[in-house]
Amino acid sequence: MIRINENYTKLKASYLFADIAKRVTAYVTANPDKPVIRLGIGDVTEPLPAACVKALHAATDEMAQRSTFKGYGPEQGYGFLREAVAQHDYAARGCRIEPDEIFISDGSKCDCANIQEIFATDLRLAIPDPVYPVYVDTNVMAGRTGPNVDGRYEGILYLESTQANGYVPAVPTAAADLIYLCFPNNPTGAVATREQLSAWVAYAKANRAILLFDSAYEAYIRDPAIPHSIYEIEGARDVAIEFRSFSKTAGFTGTRCAYTVVPRSLKAWDAAGGEHSVHALWNRRHTTKFNGVAYPIQKAAAAIFTEDGKVQTRALTDFYLANARLIREAMGRLGFPYVGGDNAPYIWVNTGRDSWEFFDLMLDRAQVVCTPGAGFGKCGEGHARISAFNSRENVERALVRIAAALR
Ligand SMILES: Cc1ncc(COP(=O)(O)O)c(C=O)c1O
Repeated sequence: MIRINENYTKLKASYLFADIAKRVTAYVTANPDKPVIRLGIGDVTEPLPAACVKALHAATDEMAQRSTFKGYGPEQGYGFLREAVAQHDYAARGCRIEPDEIFISDGSKCDCANIQEIFATDLRLAIPDPVYPVYVDTNVMAGRTGPNVDGRYEGILYLESTQANGYVPAVPTAAADLIYLCFPNNPTGAVATREQLSAWVAYAKANRAILLFDSAYEAYIRDPAIPHSIYEIEGARDVAIEFRSFSKTAGFTGTRCAYTVVPRSLKAWDAAGGEHSVHALWNRRHTTKFNGVAYPIQKAAAAIFTEDGKVQTRALTDFYLANARLIREAMGRLGFPYVGGDNAPYIWVNTGRDSWEFFDLMLDRAQVVCTPGAGFGKCGEGHARISAFNSRENVERALVRIAAALR
């Protein structure tokens, strides 16, 4: 008799965005004359930068000629992209990351989801709350947690992000082995200072732990004092893996390209105390289970690092940040405390009421979709995430409607 992985039955019944989609579909069906504006899910709306499109076309033409055609590429990514990342994302910021420490993939979601499988199943986990749901759910699937009791899985040390700590959790007193961090944060939009990140690196060193640092939104940082990479912190090469994505940097959500950095100096241990290279483990996992990103897509991604590409991607993130500013100012005028939106495309609003109630209010009265904070964890209750990913026209229209509805 075929049996299932019963860890899947511990997962909470449905996925946040599926719940939202269901409610929005029901509303739209019942109110076909009331167009809805979506400031909920974090998907980009603006087209790819021209430099990327040009590179994509040129690479597609190469695939049409026998002399330049490419079959399977290196699983870890082509050298031209790994070198461009090492130079522009790391060396340019004073970080010592070699091209062969960079693993190109088809998305940070997969990388954040898959990384846990190279580590022990009985390790001590620390995960922020609220959080990008992928970190929690993949560990539930892998059997690292107990059941969900009252909105929390047994076996996870939750790192609470609240108004009291400025939505940046301090290092805990308890020890953990695998720690997920995400800055600029999804969903709160909060950023961590150099001092706060240094404390996490010191904590990981003291506990022989590993930090999984998700910086999918680093391109939105405008404050020059805020680190873009965990490797800007002294010693991080020995304790951290970093995830980066081109999705929100250059509109690649539908194009799919990202990368993970695993330094060669990163070590983990077996039960007998034997030391192992995490780079070697991840290389083994990646080459066994992944067959590389399409050549034209990697060429398009490399174009981000050209002079034109840099100007165009900066204009793209500036555009969304200008939307974010309009949203922040509007929420401030309505008297809601908020964080984020200055170095991130998300604004985390303290709604002062149940977060699904706020969601329904926004949908019914303003026909605007936001994301209820409770969907990101217990600490998200009483909050909502508003996304800056939309056209200027839609953001402006949404804000007029919200002001009228919530006044
Ligand atoms: C924090 C965070 N990490 C990773 C991802 C996934 O990005 P990708 O499109 O590269 O899979 C997202 C996407 O929304 C995200 O918010």
